[in-house]
Amino acid sequence: MASLLALLLVSGASNGTSSDGTSYLRSSGASGPAAAPRSSSRSLAMAMAMAMASSSHHQSVFSLDSYGARGDGRHDDTPALEKAWEAACASPRPAVVLVPNGGRYLLKLVTLRGPCKSSVTLTVKGTLVASPDRADWSDKDRRHWIVFRRVNKLTVNGGGTIDGNGQKWWPHSCKINKTLPCKVAPTALSFHHCTNLRVDNLKIMNGQQMHMSVEDCTDVVLARLSITAPARSPNTDGIHITRSKNVRVTNCKIKTGDDCMSIENGTHNLHVSKVVCGPGHGISIGSLGDDNSRAEVSGITIDSVQLYGTTNGARIKTYQGGSGYAKDITFQNMIMYGVKNPIIIDQNYCDKATPCAEQRSAVRVSNVVFKNIRGTTITKHAIKMNCSKNVPCQGITLKNIDMKLKGGKGNIDSTCQNAKWRKSGFVHPQPCIATK
Ligand SMILES: *[C@@H]1O[C@H](CO)[C@@H](O)[C@H](O)[C@H]1NC(C)=O
Ligand SMILES: *[C@@H]1O[C@H](CO)[C@@H](O)[C@H](O)[C@H]1NC(C)=O
Ligand SMILES: *[C@@H]1O[C@H](CO)[C@@H](O)[C@H](O)[C@H]1NC(C)=O
Repeated sequence: MASLLALLLVSGASNGTSSDGTSYLRSSGASGPAAAPRSSSRSLAMAMAMAMASSSHHQSVFSLDSYGARGDGRHDDTPALEKAWEAACASPRPAVVLVPNGGRYLLKLVTLRGPCKSSVTLTVKGTLVASPDRADWSDKDRRHWIVFRRVNKLTVNGGGTIDGNGQKWWPHSCKINKTLPCKVAPTALSFHHCTNLRVDNLKIMNGQQMHMSVEDCTDVVLARLSITAPARSPNTDGIHITRSKNVRVTNCKIKTGDDCMSIENGTHNLHVSKVVCGPGHGISIGSLGDDNSRAEVSGITIDSVQLYGTTNGARIKTYQGGSGYAKDITFQNMIMYGVKNPIIIDQNYCDKATPCAEQRSAVRVSNVVFKNIRGTTITKHAIKMNCSKNVPCQGITLKNIDMKLKGGKGNIDSTCQNAKWRKSGFVHPQPCIATK
């Protein structure tokens, strides 16, 4: 009975193959507490029949507990996950790797590889926790904790928790202790070369460094994620996206010590909606063009985002000396509360120890729309467009913008260099009148 129920929950959680986030939310809601009042005996019988049908036709379940996991937060459960994954990946039927409810499964660096025979779902009901011992990471690979590689039709869901145990890493960051050399720390959850990827309904907390990275992936949905780390934790970006296309991010809450989302080179056709950010550094496209490199970013929509006390709101940043483009970008329907740089394009970005020399080339920034943006700023320069002399920003639209200084009546302004812009509707501050 218990295993049947587990099966039922699992099949409920992965039923929503719809490409529409909302209907998926409803169907997988059946595995949450909301389902409880509905389990009348009739619907339970029906559900059991469905579960039996799904067990014979659809899904095989590979529970970590069946592969020797202890789930006590102390013993290493990496081999159990590896074995469960291997079996699931070889299954000719859609497979579920189950992290059972209630357990804390301790993991070291683990790579879960495709291609798999059928679709695979990792359903996390309990907690996956990173080994607290940094010595478990060798210098050979300090960049990763849980990695998925080359999996098609992968879903990660279940409402459980992925805990990076970042407290063990942050004091050793050169950003926190300036006497230490700068060394990379693991990204909690990485997806490399995955297609038809769906990550839905998870809590990811206290990443060692970045919480989640999507690299070289196509056709991706990230939904209902809660990502949290302290405001002072170093480099703990929420969601990092690079070299990926057709990506949708929706209904996420991200409170960290670094970028809420960092959108990097090679991102095309990304749609972000209903994301709440802060604390943290806000939403950034870039940095692009580092070390005279080429960058290509296009088709980005950031829609219905709220930012609370973040460093930046809507930002594009590029280094001098790069090439390529960042184009067709829309930031719209944003509400900002106490943000430091609400709207900023910086084509002269520099985070090097020595000042970056002026260079002739730049990543071309064009066709960027900022519209329906309101809220409060904590600095005077609410809109900054610092563009390159040789490759000016082109086709910048400012439409219906209403920013105010937080907690006061002071004036705010907008500074611009080398930007070709137009405004429509109401725009406050009046664009580009401050001279600098
Ligand atoms: C910074 O790191 C140095 C070298 O490991 C160590 O001796 C010192 O105690 C650290 N400082 C703090 C505040 O942790
Ligand atoms: C960025 O992406 C472009 C196009 O895919 C590629 O040519 C370039 O090398 C990438 N730049 C970096 C820094 O990886
Ligand atoms: C724009 O960037 C240049 C080069 O980094 C810098 O000197 C200047 O102060 C910046 N302007 C504003 C308004 O931030």
